[in-house]
Amino acid sequence: MAREKAADKPSELTLSDFFSSTDARRDRWSRLEACAEAYGAGRGNSEKLLGEIRVLLDGVEPLEHYWAYPGAALMHSLRDLLAGGDGAAFSGAVHRIKSTIFSGAYRRDPSSWELDEESQSSLADRLPPGLADGTYKPYFELLTVAPEAARTNSNQRELRKLRRPEDPFTYEPVQASSFEDAVVAAIVNTNLQAAVIYDGFQFKSRHALTELGELIRRYAQIEDDGMPSSYGLKLASAIKKIRPEMDIYLVSERGVEEAATSEQSRLVRRVFYEVEELMELHLSILAGVTERYATPFFDNLKKYAARPIGTFHALPLARGKSIFKSNWIKDMGQFYGPNLFLAESSATTGGLDSLLDPVGNIKEAQDKAARAFGADHVFFGTNGTSTSNKIVVQALCRPGDIILIDRNCHKSHHYGLVLAGSQPLYLEAFPMVEYSMYGAVPLRTIKQALLTLKAEGKLDKARIVDLTNCTFDGHMYNCRRVMEECLAIKPDLIFLWDEAWFGFARFSPFHRIRTAMGAAQVLQENFASPEYRARYEEWKKSMKGKVGADLDASDPALLDMYLLPDPDTTRLRVYQTNSTHKSMSALRQGSMIFVRDQDFHEIEGQFHEAFYTHTSTSPNQQIIASLDLARRQMELEGYEMVMSSMDLALDLRKQVNNHPLISKYFRILTPGEMVPKEYRASGVENYGRPHSTWNEVLEAWKEDEFALDPTRLTIVTGRAGYDGTQFKGLLASKYDVQINKTSRNSILVQTNINNSRSDIAHLLKVLADVSRDVEQRLKEADSAEKAAFDARVKSLMEDVPDLPNFSRFHDAFRDNVESGSSEGHMRAAFFTAYRAEDCEYLKLNDPQVDERIRKGPALVSANFVIPYPPGFPIMVPGQVIEADTITFMRKLDVKEIHGYDASLGLKLLKPDSLGKRGKKGGASDL
Ligand SMILES: Cc1ncc(COP(=O)(O)O)c(C=O)c1O
Repeated sequence: MAREKAADKPSELTLSDFFSSTDARRDRWSRLEACAEAYGAGRGNSEKLLGEIRVLLDGVEPLEHYWAYPGAALMHSLRDLLAGGDGAAFSGAVHRIKSTIFSGAYRRDPSSWELDEESQSSLADRLPPGLADGTYKPYFELLTVAPEAARTNSNQRELRKLRRPEDPFTYEPVQASSFEDAVVAAIVNTNLQAAVIYDGFQFKSRHALTELGELIRRYAQIEDDGMPSSYGLKLASAIKKIRPEMDIYLVSERGVEEAATSEQSRLVRRVFYEVEELMELHLSILAGVTERYATPFFDNLKKYAARPIGTFHALPLARGKSIFKSNWIKDMGQFYGPNLFLAESSATTGGLDSLLDPVGNIKEAQDKAARAFGADHVFFGTNGTSTSNKIVVQALCRPGDIILIDRNCHKSHHYGLVLAGSQPLYLEAFPMVEYSMYGAVPLRTIKQALLTLKAEGKLDKARIVDLTNCTFDGHMYNCRRVMEECLAIKPDLIFLWDEAWFGFARFSPFHRIRTAMGAAQVLQENFASPEYRARYEEWKKSMKGKVGADLDASDPALLDMYLLPDPDTTRLRVYQTNSTHKSMSALRQGSMIFVRDQDFHEIEGQFHEAFYTHTSTSPNQQIIASLDLARRQMELEGYEMVMSSMDLALDLRKQVNNHPLISKYFRILTPGEMVPKEYRASGVENYGRPHSTWNEVLEAWKEDEFALDPTRLTIVTGRAGYDGTQFKGLLASKYDVQINKTSRNSILVQTNINNSRSDIAHLLKVLADVSRDVEQRLKEADSAEKAAFDARVKSLMEDVPDLPNFSRFHDAFRDNVESGSSEGHMRAAFFTAYRAEDCEYLKLNDPQVDERIRKGPALVSANFVIPYPPGFPIMVPGQVIEADTITFMRKLDVKEIHGYDASLGLKLLKPDSLGKRGKKGGASDL
């Protein structure tokens, strides 16, 4: 039978294959199926259909080279069927393959690996182990990279022969015979868990890779030097940059000792000498995946639950007897099922461990999380990042220390500072007044604050820079640059990055550089590299040696200069907290603290004290288990899930902003709209074509001061006449859609690893329905109604209140009232308010408020006032309240304001209570 030949012209892969390898692949197969079906049924113009089918097959085929299923054999069979002219058989085969890809049945159903009875004879040889005997085992794919197909095939055959019934997993090899193809496979094939790299493969792919080629160069950082012997470790490095979790094995005929001891060998799990130990290779591959699959705490909890344990401790609910025997709360048991109760325990022994002092399986689980998330240490938290932040703040901040902190930080940081007695030096984020939200803190602002402290001789008191990354609305810092420049001013500064929303980001090669741990890794590598040292020396020369402690803090040029830290004296001290429950499969309140601190040993004792201060002595076992499982999932399928959530977000952005009806009333803000020009040196306005190439976007993500996380989508609702809160209510009550947060004229929607294309379709339909509804109402409206609508839109979109900046702490809470920096003793103010006789209330609209702002005595806030939205404190204890804050509060149309009871009014510290405070600014009296 004549074989259909793939077009001679090499087929092109685009960058959309990067984001949506799964969805792009599905789309292609769906289109192919539709044409094949029409062709098979004899509908339409068969010549034309055949032409389309050939084009589609040519489109599908290159991508299929990177997956085990359907694999080269089935693709050849497909071409054979087409060449044979049996349209119905071809259509049936396409349908079968497409359905199998969609359902993932090839992972578990042996019959899906055959196209028809004829091919069954060779099935046993092709079938992944475990499928043959019908026992399900988790399935993955193994990338084998070797010089030419024949040799790889024989390796693959050999590997297949080693399959044993007792293997815990089943895997199927995928081959690549060039450097570029191997990197593309790592990008598009989300089933890959490991790669075996043999010596001597070529560099160039036979496909035209265009944008993907640029991407490969970005990750590989090499051009083809024509020296295949050097490709192995370089390939390992490129794959690890994209998928750090993947295990890599090197098989070499020469120089194994050298490969095993080189600097880059840390990227490789094991090095093998070509001719020996294939069984060892097979076992190593399984062992590598087993290591990621193992969930030490969860595994033990399951064993514990299965044991007939008598409990005499204080947790009646454990084992569930009080529930299943109950006459009145049986439904609790029915709803949650027995395992929840069997797995409940207050024990820290007998197979379990203590969260407060982990030495067994919790410790192991935390160590695995450290490996997965690129930290040195990980600590699990069972009371959300609210508590994790307080732990880190208390562990690191001492009374009197100055903490440079974004005022928009989550309130846990502010309360943490009250507890620690440190002085917040509030930093202002750039405002986005038109949407009633803040962005993030510009690097210039942070540098200015540090340089002012330096000029005033207070830099030694500056302890931490505390920032939220990414922000609620998706602004991602350039963490690497922020840390680099701050460390150039103070080499032992500590960084706390609150990445409550951002834990998933580790598993996206795009986001990773914008995470605290990702940036810390880059900095650590840089500081150790001769290239960085040379760059630093060059810069030092250009500064005439006036660097580090000798920096001239009064020189404004420093604000615009890229400052470099001294690699010899800099200490890299980075902490990151994340609400695992917000972006991964952890139960509510599951949180993690990541530590990458060269001097952790110095503060380990106090870190534990802080951990004990805030952690329950009865932590929830299920939350701990879910943290362990969330880690397992991210290491094994995080890449696929995160890339998919990014793809969904990009799709939603495109659909909403380009839809003729929806875009009349709704708009998803682009990076160009969310990040002011001065923080976007790249000039990139939006993701991908026609606005920019993806390579430009990646460059922007690497270098721009701020970038926008595409998965956080601000949808402006004001033009449809809805404020954020109203629209959130409408979505929840009428359409069963829950969203994240609101602003005066927008809602924030996010995609995460849980979302599907159906969710996107549902949201789009809702937006289309609402748009149609508004359109209809406007069509039927009389002029007065139309005017009312226009006025409402104008009010929402234009009459927006200015966002108030932090004013200052009252002099009573300042050490040095003349100081140019604005830190203050917030703890002293906070506890002054504990004396009722020292407090007073003034109603918001009381004319006295305006009078006192004009003439004094100053209004000094007694507590935090935090409106939701926007969710940041517009007043903190000890802060002098000024007119802009009052105006903002009067305009606020939100119901939920923490720390403010409208029936009582503003809670203030009485002026004479401030006078009582001993020495001026002597804040330590409380
Ligand atoms: C930036 C930030 N940090 C911390 C938290 C608190 O996290 P959790 O809900 O896990 O306690 C939040 C909650 O929304 C947050 O937005």
